[in-house]
Amino acid sequence: MSVQFEVNGRQVHVEVEPRMTLADCLRHELGLTGTHLGCEHGVCGACTVLVNGDAVRSCLMLAVQVEGSKVVTVEGLSNDTELTALQKSFRKHHALQCGFCTPGMITTAHALLTEEPDCDADRVREVLSGNICRCTGYISIVEAVLDARSAYKTSDGSGP
Ligand code: FES
Ligand code: FES
Repeated sequence: MSVQFEVNGRQVHVEVEPRMTLADCLRHELGLTGTHLGCEHGVCGACTVLVNGDAVRSCLMLAVQVEGSKVVTVEGLSNDTELTALQKSFRKHHALQCGFCTPGMITTAHALLTEEPDCDADRVREVLSGNICRCTGYISIVEAVLDARSAYKTSDGSGP
């Protein structure tokens, strides 16, 4: 089947099997391997991407379901010149070790901070509770997200 959508600001058109997941489409058809696959059944959060601004598990979505949508992967939340505020905060707080969970943490946190730049620690924990990290532990990740809040409090609400 043919599917067209926007990914990280670029229009793409791919031919996929109807059963292909969005995660596999991003990784194998579009080379966006920053989206990681852990459990492949919606539990670990490693595959989280943004679809029309919402954090979704790309292992549970079919590629054909994003027809006409705007998809943002972890690659789309970085830039070529310097680390973003969220990336800097993860580095500052040592919020990653192996980094396998990090794309899902970053995409989930970005969606939260965009919607709720005043969120408190309990809310961060609640939202990140669906993202599993096997090595860093969660305290530093929560601290990193809280510390990045100020960057999302722009006057026009557009975020960093
Ligand atoms: S790989 Fe999608 S939730 Fe684990
Ligand atoms: S940093 Fe290794 S799984 Fe989270």
